[in-house]
Amino acid sequence: MGEHVLAGKSIVLGVTGGIAVYKAAELVRELVKAGASVRVVMTENATRFVSPLTFQVLSGNPVFTDMFKQDVYDINHISLTENVSLMVIAPATANVIGKIASGIADDLLTTTVMAMEQPVLICPAMNSRMYANAVVQGNIKRLVGLGYQFVPPGYGELACKTEGEGRLADLSAIMEGIKRALTPQDLAGQRVLVTAGPTREAIDPVRFISNHSTGKMGYAIAQVASRRGAEVVLVSGPTYLPAPVGVKLIYVSTAGEMRDAVLSWKDWSTVIIKAAAVADYRPSTQAKEKIKKSEEFLQISLERNPDILSEVAKEKGDRVVVGFAMETEALIDQAKKKLKEKNLDLICANDLGEPGAGFAVDTNRISIIDSAGRVEALPLMTKEEVAYHILDRVREVIDDRIRGRKGRD
Ligand code: C5P
Repeated sequence: MGEHVLAGKSIVLGVTGGIAVYKAAELVRELVKAGASVRVVMTENATRFVSPLTFQVLSGNPVFTDMFKQDVYDINHISLTENVSLMVIAPATANVIGKIASGIADDLLTTTVMAMEQPVLICPAMNSRMYANAVVQGNIKRLVGLGYQFVPPGYGELACKTEGEGRLADLSAIMEGIKRALTPQDLAGQRVLVTAGPTREAIDPVRFISNHSTGKMGYAIAQVASRRGAEVVLVSGPTYLPAPVGVKLIYVSTAGEMRDAVLSWKDWSTVIIKAAAVADYRPSTQAKEKIKKSEEFLQISLERNPDILSEVAKEKGDRVVVGFAMETEALIDQAKKKLKEKNLDLICANDLGEPGAGFAVDTNRISIIDSAGRVEALPLMTKEEVAYHILDRVREVIDDRIRGRKGRD
């Protein structure tokens, strides 16, 4: 679960000949670090860019290049496909994509792909004009139709000094593609709206009121929901986090802007998870110019911000709505009260006093409370694992709804 998606998984990595081969070496490192075992198959051309020895050292396994050299390792294209969870091809040249799409199997890599029953994830990398070529695009379309998965190339400067679409996707996008390919798509069809991070309420042009939220919990929920097949929109206050892969990200600053964004996506969504730490108050007026220091005391009057969660949950229809409660005292009672008052399906109670829980850390300790008042106290775990648990419970509520509807029919 969580970042353990890759632990104990066996992955065959096909490497074909492009300048991006060196990035595949980094990919092997990441996969091994995450607990996967990796066996690398290289095309002849790939070995001209990076020596098989590099991949052998990084994977800790022999590297396979030649169909007809099975002496030492007693391996062939069929045994390479046994007990494998996934095959990844990175970088994948226009040539290899064309061969796979046409059923050509003339080396160890392409024969292995052809014999593979497990999912195959292809990460193209080529010159942007080659990538735009109608034949290449047609091949990709055909392979997508046949169930092959792709991590599309990124946009940027290419080794051939041109700029465009074609460079191998970022390592983080490839890793996420691999995790997704290994994850049951049990949230497919769901449209999940997540909020994350703090809000900033301006006092004057240079100062604001905010809080210590980093957005890590909400970003983890957005990433895991997308990995499990949901379409995800993430409305985020200011954070320093990288954008989750495959998620539509909407940046906002104030609670008012967050409210506008949430309300405009509310009807689209089937699930709403509000992990943002929204400022409860904002300065009643905003000074036009920077406030100068003069008197000994300065008073700022504050007024209430709208409670976005209550507003969306009031008329939630069939939507599953999840809130967070962060308290420093009487946490569970307060959280239960909030769940009722705000008309929520689930509330995640976050004890700020717990070591390892709350703001600015990678771990969290929460209790999930449902509308029947049941409390599930989770142990300390990473925010990604917490995200899996919350989404498991969301899935349960969705299933209950479906059963309830069937019962009524
Ligand atoms: O009432 P309280 O602020 O403790 O509730 C926390 C929950 O309500 C969180 O899920 C938070 O994202 C949400 N909230 C909101 N709008 C506010 C304040 C909190 O949506 N103005």
